[in-house]
Amino acid sequence: MDLNKKLAGLEKEVEELIPAAGSLDELEKLRVKYLGKKGKIADIFNNIGQVKPEERPIIGKKTKQLKLKIENMHNEKKAKMEEKKQKEKMKKERIDITLPGINPEMGYTHPLTKVINEIKDLFIGLGFKIAEGPEIEDGYYNFAALNIPEHHPARDLQDTLYIDDKYLLRTHTSPVQVRTMEKEEPPIRIIAPGRVYRSDELDASHSPIFHQIEGLVIDRDISFSDLKGTIEIFVSELYGNDRTIRFRPSYFPFTEPSAEVDISCIVCGGKGCSACSYTGWIELLGSGMVHPNVLEMSGIDSREYSGFAFGMGWDRIVTQKYGIDDIRVLFENDRRFLEQFN
Ligand code: PHE
Repeated sequence: MDLNKKLAGLEKEVEELIPAAGSLDELEKLRVKYLGKKGKIADIFNNIGQVKPEERPIIGKKTKQLKLKIENMHNEKKAKMEEKKQKEKMKKERIDITLPGINPEMGYTHPLTKVINEIKDLFIGLGFKIAEGPEIEDGYYNFAALNIPEHHPARDLQDTLYIDDKYLLRTHTSPVQVRTMEKEEPPIRIIAPGRVYRSDELDASHSPIFHQIEGLVIDRDISFSDLKGTIEIFVSELYGNDRTIRFRPSYFPFTEPSAEVDISCIVCGGKGCSACSYTGWIELLGSGMVHPNVLEMSGIDSREYSGFAFGMGWDRIVTQKYGIDDIRVLFENDRRFLEQFN
């Protein structure tokens, strides 16, 4: 075998192939092919015994030189390719630190939340606690335990959204009264703000989902004057001292006696305007002394304890306070609406 010729052939081959390698993988294959343990250079060293002894050192030297040359070519090519790869990576991951930052959009406190925070503070100051109950309610708590008889119109499908025979979407926050009385011993003083549901069509003044705030006080010797005093404090704290309050006899199955409370119109002060339908009054809440049947059904001795309850429309307090003429905006969470209250 003419190793000289072979060496010359190898050199030519390598000079062509190494610079042409398209990827680091390809380059590595070439390295193994020429410089690897079973590679072509090793092959020549292995066959060196075939040449005449006096030529061996020359061939050996030449082979070593070629090996070095291939190593250099390989290393040079590899360094170039790695640099190129690094550059591409840097280009891809480039961060333009001169770009303006992204400002996180701030949320806003919903006017319903603003109002309830104010009302909660006020009642907590009077010694009340905040209570909650489920929106998917057992019919017992929504009706029967509140002394609402089987055939009362409130139970009608027209008013109530039933889930099945037993469960419904609560139509008022009054079931929280019952749940609280079942769990707790008097004295009880709670308010229970929450979402309620009725099968109303959605329009500017009605929504099938709306909000109420329930109040309940049970203790020894609670009388109607305690109810009156509490409502008076509440109204003067929330609306200022200029409001006149009117108690109108009314009827609720779960209170006896019952009263509806009106306040002088906050827009016209009582003269009459479109906000109060020219009556001078706006309805604020329903209230009354808790019916003895309701106390007894909830496990409270009606000979020992008495109490009062009230329930008010939370949405209307908000719309009146902020002069909102369409309650639908309270449920849409449009930022353009919400940002006006912050
Ligand atoms: N639950 C009544 C309603 O939805 C309001 C109310 C609550 C009345 C408590 C009296 C006592 O209209």
